[in-house]
Order: sequence, then structure tokens, then C-alpha cells
Amino acid sequence: MSTLITGIAELRTQDDDLATLHGAALVVDGDRVAWVGSAARAPAADSRVDVGGRAVLPGWVDSHTHLLFAGDRTAEFAARMAGEPYTAGGIATTVAATRAATDDELRANLRRHVAEALAQGTTCLETKTGYGLTVDDEVRLARLAAEQVDEVTYLGAHLVPPGADAGAYTALAAGDMLAAVAPHVRWADVFCETGAFDESRSRAVLTAAAARGLGLRVHGNQLGRGPGVRLAVELGAASVDHCTHLAPADVDALAGSTTVATLLPACDLSTRQPLPDARALLDAGAAVALATNCNPGSSYTSSMAFCVATAVLQMRMTVDEAITAATRTPARSLNRQDVGHLAPGARADIHVLDAPSATHLAYRPGVPLTHSVWRRGTRVIPP
Ligand code: NIG
Repeated sequence: MSTLITGIAELRTQDDDLATLHGAALVVDGDRVAWVGSAARAPAADSRVDVGGRAVLPGWVDSHTHLLFAGDRTAEFAARMAGEPYTAGGIATTVAATRAATDDELRANLRRHVAEALAQGTTCLETKTGYGLTVDDEVRLARLAAEQVDEVTYLGAHLVPPGADAGAYTALAAGDMLAAVAPHVRWADVFCETGAFDESRSRAVLTAAAARGLGLRVHGNQLGRGPGVRLAVELGAASVDHCTHLAPADVDALAGSTTVATLLPACDLSTRQPLPDARALLDAGAAVALATNCNPGSSYTSSMAFCVATAVLQMRMTVDEAITAATRTPARSLNRQDVGHLAPGARADIHVLDAPSATHLAYRPGVPLTHSVWRRGTRVIPP
């Protein structure tokens, strides 16, 4: 069953050859894009949908979230807005609530957040474990995540649980816990930060994960300058996330590497950190992605559009750079060729904006611009 989508004022394919087309059309066949080009040359299809002069881009790829959680940290957020600092220790509050939740409660919470993201154009999601921190709880979170999201990351090294010995917990996270979770995930991540895991403990978990064939991601340089970025680059991680506090040597290291710098501006705003220096990274030649970091502690938003608007308005990224950073580059950071672009063969994940061009995402910040969303070739928004 094929569908011809016409009336596309601006089609941001995010494909190197096709680039941005005006007066475009697109054919979906099954769950894939079958054809992209000028509306004047569009082939016939079984059915036809006219999007009425709107802009079309690939669904957002949100490559950093923590959606397996229970509980609420509104009070912690309010205290922060009144001047309290953000610390890694707040994670323990969510760990306690998550351990106490049933599978069905966690499933329902995840479903609600995935649906919320989809309604805003996010069609590919990564999410992490990390609020379990026992072997059984981490396995449980990985299994539940795999039911509903595209990419699952093991984050047993999120926090040393209160009362645990850091060395013994690291050995568990790099040993039995990793072995139990590995069959359910493609990625492993470590929170390499003061108050969480230092360089040598981070290295121990990451190298053990790599030895098991998992791809690597790192939480690095979130709350201060530290070894996270350097370690990620040295170990060939696919992504180092946060990158809020970078030394010039970190920028150079990223520019000379294949590691994507994933920036999380909603988190920096919500924790009263400075925004990352996206311009320095891009000008040096580093690959930059944007993600929501949706979680109850440091960044409780699922809005990729908010991240894109912030990147353009406050981080001096161009509209083109920000859209690439929210589609094609996070797909690369997840080692996926099927999403984040709209070219023949790609997954038909399509975001139609209620605007004639994607520039409106930054030009009209805060305005809900999602008109409709297709995922795997089926229109899911509106249902
Ligand atoms: O990416 N930094 C570590 N992990 C999350 C925060 C989790 C929390 O505070 O609950 C983050 O910001």
C-alpha cells in the first residue's frame, strides 16, 4: 500500500544529496520512504494526502532520555529555582520510587512519556536504565524499556547507591550486573562526574561493556570540567552527552574524533548551568546533536522543539544546524541509518509542521507546531 504526500512547501530531507526541496512530494510504501522529489514529477500511488503547503521534516531522534522512573521531584526543582544547586545525589530519590513501583506502573509511565514525545514529532527514542541500581532492578528496567523504545542503554553506573561501597558497586556494575543486563540493551553509559563515577571507575564499566560488544555513551562534563569527554573520545564512544563545561582541549578532542557531542540545553536551563558552547564545537568541526534528557530530576521535558528553539535563539546554532542536530546527527550517534532523514529506503518517520518552513520552530518559540506525525509509514498523529 503506497501513499503520495503532496502539498509540501518545504521538505527538509536531511539527506546529503537531496537537501531541502520546495514544492515537493514524497511517497511512502509500507514502512519506508519509496520516493522523494519535485511534486511536478511525483509518481502515482494507491492513495494521496495533501498537507496543504506545510513544512515536512524527519521525525525527531531523541538520543538521550531516562524514562524508566516513578515518583516526582517537583519540590527539588522548586528549591533549585530558589537557589539550591543540582547534585547527582537527587538520583537516589527516583531510585527509591522506581524500585517501589510495579512493572505495570513503570510501563504506564513510559507509555505516557513516549506518547507525549510522539505527539510532538519524536519518532525514535533512546532511553536508559539507571534508576534501579540492583541487578534485578536494572534488568527489569532494561526489559520494560525494550518493549516500547527503539534504543535501550544500560546505566547501572548512574550513582553509587547510598550506603554502598563505591569500589564494590563499580565491580558489580562492570561485572554481574552488566552480564545480566547486556542481552537486553545495545548501549552502555556511565555518569562520569564528581559525586557519581570518577575516571577510573567509569573506565572500568565502559571497557567491560565494550568487551561485551555494547556501544558506548558517556555522561560527561555536566557539572564541571572533568575527564568525561576525554575518556569518551579515547574509548571511541558513539556519544558524550551534556558537554556543558568544556576545556579547549575537550573541543579539540571531539573535533578530531567520531564521538558525537550531544548537548542537552533543557537540562542546563533546568539546573541553572550555562548553556554549552555549541558554536565552539561546530566551528572546530565536531558533530553536535541535541536531545531532551527527559527525566524527573534535571530535565523534565520531552520537547525536542524546545531544544531546537533554544539552540538557535541562545546557543548561536543556525536553524539548519539545529535541525540536523535533532535528526541526522543523533541517528548517527545511535548508529542508525534508517531514521533521521527522508530518502528512499529510510523509515517513513515524517513530521509535518503547521508552518510553511521549519525556520518557524525558532521564529515562533513555544508555539506547538506539530501538525501530524507518521511513524513507520502509518499516520499516528492525529490517530
Ligand atoms: O542526565 N546526569 C545524570 N543523569 C541525569 C539526571 C538524573 C536525575 O537527576 O535524576 C542527567 O541529567
